[in-house]
Amino acid sequence: MKSSILFLGLQLVAAGVLSRQMDVTPASNVNYQSLAPDSDNGTFALPPNFRNEPPINTQSPLTPGAMVKTVKYGPWHMRPNTVLPNAPVLRAAVPCTDCYVVAYQADLVDENGVTQNVNNGGWLHHMVRCLVDFPSFHLPKDTKLNIFLQKVLFTTGIGQRDTSCPILPTKRIFASGNERAVTRLNANYKFGYKINPGDSFSSVVELMNMGKTAKTYYMTISYEYLPINSPSASGYREYAAMPWLDATGCGGSDVPARQGAYSVNAVPWISTVEGNLLFAEGHVHDGALDTTIYLNDKPVCISQHVYGRKPEYVSVDGMDGMGGGMEGMPTTSISDTSSCVNFGMVKRGDKLSAVCKYDTTQHPIEKNPNGSLMAIMCNTRVYIG
Ligand SMILES: *[C@@H]1O[C@H](CO)[C@@H](O)[C@H](O)[C@H]1NC(C)=O
Ligand SMILES: *[C@@H]1O[C@H](CO)[C@@H](O)[C@H](O)[C@H]1NC(C)=O
Repeated sequence: MKSSILFLGLQLVAAGVLSRQMDVTPASNVNYQSLAPDSDNGTFALPPNFRNEPPINTQSPLTPGAMVKTVKYGPWHMRPNTVLPNAPVLRAAVPCTDCYVVAYQADLVDENGVTQNVNNGGWLHHMVRCLVDFPSFHLPKDTKLNIFLQKVLFTTGIGQRDTSCPILPTKRIFASGNERAVTRLNANYKFGYKINPGDSFSSVVELMNMGKTAKTYYMTISYEYLPINSPSASGYREYAAMPWLDATGCGGSDVPARQGAYSVNAVPWISTVEGNLLFAEGHVHDGALDTTIYLNDKPVCISQHVYGRKPEYVSVDGMDGMGGGMEGMPTTSISDTSSCVNFGMVKRGDKLSAVCKYDTTQHPIEKNPNGSLMAIMCNTRVYIG
């Protein structure tokens, strides 16, 4: 019985993936373009080939007919000079249901809504957002039964599997680093992430307060989305897969810090789907220069990491904020990460891999509050549709 259900499930998934390939719809009505390198008030221009996603515009979203909702998660009360490592956020609010999320952007603010960043000690070190799919239990969110079932689903992962790490308890869908770049799924084609009634998110959030005073932090995520029944959503579908390529494979992403110039390789993934490479960006820690994604060992995307281009990403050691560098010298952290959109097609059996280039003589590794070197990372999310 169980295996026949599984078999049916596999067939449905296969049919879904096949039908997806036949009618990919260009998102020609999306007024999308990357920002010109010097048009966003940065203190210096970005490198020439740097694709800079425009910030989510809450007043006039880039996608015609789209809405933007900013959802606040937290609070987290943090003492000075502390890390909050991978705090779980269970049953986190979704911005909408029966909708396609087409872009999102994370931020970190205090209780007055003031942005917290490297210059005042607040780090949104990373957040990883997973889906808890809850299709068959359309219960009010706060009933005891619902909470219990969500916990069971969260810990057993029934119903949802991560693309590149099916052994994980949940399916990873979104993530962000402290550079807070926009992820956009509909730059060229009509793809989004579909949220169904009853779905909820779970997340892990890693924050740091490197400042000298206690702080209350909230993470915000601005979601640009299209209601499913709006005319603007016509032709939209959910992306096929989001493999997460990571130096630790299916591990916790932390790689021991190392000084010097070197490369860190992510564990490759053999594609189980066919489709367009819609969007990717690298996630690294300070010290990295770029993340290159390879398709069958050929480079297809270089995600560059630029440091200290905005004042929020510059700190002075010994003052509020943190320094990986010398006492009293300003230290810059990653302020901009470029993304690749529509950068090729992948077939079943193709190999996707990634390499992160580090040079800690150019950009020092971050330090933990106790002064030890922080673990580094090398991972990338590749959205395929
Ligand atoms: C740049 O700064 C100006 C003036 O403060 C502001 O109006 C504009 O929106 C900023 N541009 C961006 C892309 O943030
Ligand atoms: C310093 O902090 C890091 C991260 O919190 C921890 O892993 C490490 O064990 C600490 N080292 C010492 C010597 O306390």
